[in-house]
Amino acid sequence: KAKAEPKDFLHISDFDKATILKILDHAKEVKALLKSGERTFLPFRGKTMAMIFAKPSMRTRVSFETGFFLLGGHALYLGPDDIQMGKREETRDVARVLSGYNDIIMARLFAHQDILDLAKYATIPVINGLTDYNHPCQIMADVLTIIEHIGQLEGIKVVYVGDGNNIVHSWLLMASVIPFHFVCACPKGFEPDGKTVEKARQAGISKIEITNDPKEAVRGADVVYSDVWASMGQKEEAANRRQVFKGFQVDENLMKLAGPKAYFMHCLPAERGVEVTDGVIEAPNSIVFPQAENRMHAQNAIMLHMLGL
Ligand code: CP
Ligand code: NVA
Repeated sequence: KAKAEPKDFLHISDFDKATILKILDHAKEVKALLKSGERTFLPFRGKTMAMIFAKPSMRTRVSFETGFFLLGGHALYLGPDDIQMGKREETRDVARVLSGYNDIIMARLFAHQDILDLAKYATIPVINGLTDYNHPCQIMADVLTIIEHIGQLEGIKVVYVGDGNNIVHSWLLMASVIPFHFVCACPKGFEPDGKTVEKARQAGISKIEITNDPKEAVRGADVVYSDVWASMGQKEEAANRRQVFKGFQVDENLMKLAGPKAYFMHCLPAERGVEVTDGVIEAPNSIVFPQAENRMHAQNAIMLHMLGL
């Protein structure tokens, strides 16, 4: 049965499989339209989006702003010094003020509780553009990319190698909605949140493995996925993590162990020579740039859905 439709796009698992697949289908359609040069589909005409960034960004900022513009709307970039949510002004006040001017809010924040509060007090849809906990728009774009290259997510093996971070949490929440085989290979002590792993396992549809052995993990993978070892907000841990994560670099040998059908994916930005080698990113089976481009198309469809368009 269909879950009650939430107002906000905060976690993939807030939606049922049919809705996630419908959004991805729509993303493909609108992508084809934009790729054809068609510029008369303007569903966001007369609409504005407030984009709150407490952290840096290239993909999220440019893909949301460009996507919203291409479909007729106007997006406002509010950087870390502008609103200073929680410091200059309380989150619940920001939420209600922005709701008075805008049709939709996109936010990239540190604490996940802040986006929950923002969504609670906003009367308009709030889209999660990454928190310390998750990154749902990224994994929607990733799945769109997998569908384009492999045909479907269902039944395939995705092996994430690295830190059990926000990207992993969104993969786990995706695995509670669509059945596939998800493996996270991370150093001891850097596993994803236990409750989120439990949630994915309890859904009982996907095979979920958390391991400390990347070589064993990647065997037979359809996708090998990497992300930075030190996320935004953890950069002072970077030197220590480089030691702890030795052996978790995705290099040519690891890709060879994965096998010939394995694609390489990375949410970017990548630190070449750290979590992934230059050769792996530049190899013919690396799909990191189509993946980055799909951020815009996945998000356009997410916004259309959330705005009921
Ligand atoms: N992948 C991603 O979210 O990139 P940005 O940090 O550049 O937005
Ligand atoms: N885990 C990374 C993802 C960046 C898109 C971070 O949070 O910095």
